[in-house]
Amino acid sequence: MPLARSLSVTSLSGLEEWDEEFELEDAVLFEIAWEVANKVGGIYTVIQTKARLTAEEWGENYFLVGPYVESNVRTQVELIEPTNPVLKRTIDKMNSSGCKFAAQSEEPPHIVAHFHEWLAGLGLVLCRKRQLPVATIFTTHATLLGRYLCAGSVDFYNNLSKFNVDKEAGDRQIYHRYCLERAAAHCAHVFTTVSQITAIEAEHLLKRKPDIVTPNGLNVKKFSAMHEFQNLHAQSKSRIQEFVRGHFYGHLDFNLDKCLFLFIAGRYEFSNKGADIFLEALARLNYLLRVNHSDVTVIAFFIMPARTNNFNVETLKGQAVRKQLWDTAHTVKERFGKKLYESLLVGQLPDVAKMLDKEDFTIMKRAIFATQRQSQPPICTHNMLDDSSDPILNSVRRIGLFNSSADRVKIIFHPEFLSSTSPLLPMDYEEFVRGCHLGVFPSYYEPWGYTPAECTVMGIPSISTNLSGFGCFMEEHIADPSAYGIYILDRRYKGVDESCNQLTSFLFQFCKQSRRQRIIQRNRTERLSDLLDWRYLGRYYIAARHMALAKAFPDTFIYEPHEPSSATGFRYPRPASVPPSPSLSRHSSPHHSEAEEDEDERYDEDLEAEKDRVNIRQPYTATKNKTSANLGADENEDDA
Ligand code: UDP
Ligand code: G6P
Ligand code: GLC
Repeated sequence: MPLARSLSVTSLSGLEEWDEEFELEDAVLFEIAWEVANKVGGIYTVIQTKARLTAEEWGENYFLVGPYVESNVRTQVELIEPTNPVLKRTIDKMNSSGCKFAAQSEEPPHIVAHFHEWLAGLGLVLCRKRQLPVATIFTTHATLLGRYLCAGSVDFYNNLSKFNVDKEAGDRQIYHRYCLERAAAHCAHVFTTVSQITAIEAEHLLKRKPDIVTPNGLNVKKFSAMHEFQNLHAQSKSRIQEFVRGHFYGHLDFNLDKCLFLFIAGRYEFSNKGADIFLEALARLNYLLRVNHSDVTVIAFFIMPARTNNFNVETLKGQAVRKQLWDTAHTVKERFGKKLYESLLVGQLPDVAKMLDKEDFTIMKRAIFATQRQSQPPICTHNMLDDSSDPILNSVRRIGLFNSSADRVKIIFHPEFLSSTSPLLPMDYEEFVRGCHLGVFPSYYEPWGYTPAECTVMGIPSISTNLSGFGCFMEEHIADPSAYGIYILDRRYKGVDESCNQLTSFLFQFCKQSRRQRIIQRNRTERLSDLLDWRYLGRYYIAARHMALAKAFPDTFIYEPHEPSSATGFRYPRPASVPPSPSLSRHSSPHHSEAEEDEDERYDEDLEAEKDRVNIRQPYTATKNKTSANLGADENEDDA
């Protein structure tokens, strides 16, 4: 009998390295999901961002299995021949006889098969029914019934234990899918979900308590220069500003430098994702900004894919007009430069009055004429197929935010995921997020919620809720989340109207911040990245796999979880420095140049980093907890 190997796992606070004796040489890992190389929502992000770390652990014994979508295969998959002979035989066999499974080797490896969501769950149920020697894991990223119930007008969280699940699933015509999900959860050796809040939901709706919570991580990019991510913000912001110049042509009566870009993004689940209360809060914010005579303009982007029939003409025209104005300015500048050059060549200072001639004025007048428009800048960038019943458009109609001059809050609905090849807004999602000021994700139903997590690692503040896995996770691990730019809206203990007021207040306070305060806040936000890195969170997946191996092959593997006392939870302390008030500004002269302002901002960033370095070092070095210490060290080095 092979020697049993042991393994130690601890939870977030008391993290230790894996026991090195735990060898996986003869084991093979399959991860199966509908979103492998097939982007639908956040599950794609889980698989895609985790792949590198998992491949580091499993090498050539790691296989991702997803649907064959020709266009995705062409753009995302590199076709290779398998090197593993067993796998090659299996694939040959599958190819020659339809899609039959046959893992028939002389010395079968230990197989771990990790299935994500009910769509892949059927494979798991069949593995168990056919008694295949496979350690199975089922991760659910939401429950079907939970998602459906929340999308209706149900008081979900107060009634979790009371739902007649079969009836509710039947009423919503998802009974067969629900059964599949429940069967997969029950058949799995190890059942996991992405957050505590979804674990409770699963316990009630799927009737099995998850064995372990596997929170979602990200691939965190580390910049060697401290200001690099701030520079990226400035670069991306100027590209969004270009788009805005085009979109609002003829109505650019607001100061773009005082313009804040807010956004919500994700699959189009209007109320689950909180687009409903975001719109309502925007209407209230508009009122507050107007009555307070604020010079800030807010542009709120809604990036949620809906059924469309391409970009609309008015939106495309906006970008064409902007481009034409740019070309005109360029032409006149060239002509101006040529005249200037000619004048200098003959040793004369130019006669400024003659530098622009009639033709120049004609060119410019013609260009200005093209910017006249009768209509308001459009709300939606595309032709919507369901325009009259679309929930975002209908809410906009109800609250009356039509991008008019008087409104301080403008709305742009882009009903398609972003792409760098778009003729309208040629930016990928990451670039776009970097250029914005605040991500707003006031979800009612959100098992994890990648969008605010992605903001965090890019140093962009965000609003999430205490009903989202991410929000709860951050609340648990940060002493004062809002000081770090992580605003967590209370949607659990407050009614909709109260939550909406709280959201309005977050937004209004955000609008009152100075540029300097925003810069400092972004620095703080970015410092939380380590907490969301797969290099840290990946250990829960590792634990789940080892747990499954130990359950499926008890003679070979032993799983020893750490005693609960080590899971006391570590928290990021409150930052030492309070946000600087504008009145503390070092300069008193009203003629303070922009360059000097930027220099001041840098000074304040460094000052802030220094104060926090002193503060943060204490709790980290005081603890014996290895990973906490690492997190602290990383953070300090970043600041240096
Ligand atoms: N996303 C994207 N392009 C966009 C908008 C969003 O790729 O234009 C991605 C985003 O990066 C995130 C995912 O969509 O990873 C949404 O995941 P989340 O967990 O927030 O929600 P889900 O859609 O899975 O419910
Ligand atoms: C970054 C840049 C600064 C710029 C600032 C704008 O921090 O490094 O040079 O002034 O962004 O910040 P804002 O919040 O106004 O977009
Ligand atoms: C689901 C959830 C989302 C989560 C994602 C990845 O789609 O709706 O909240 O972030 O899966 O786990």
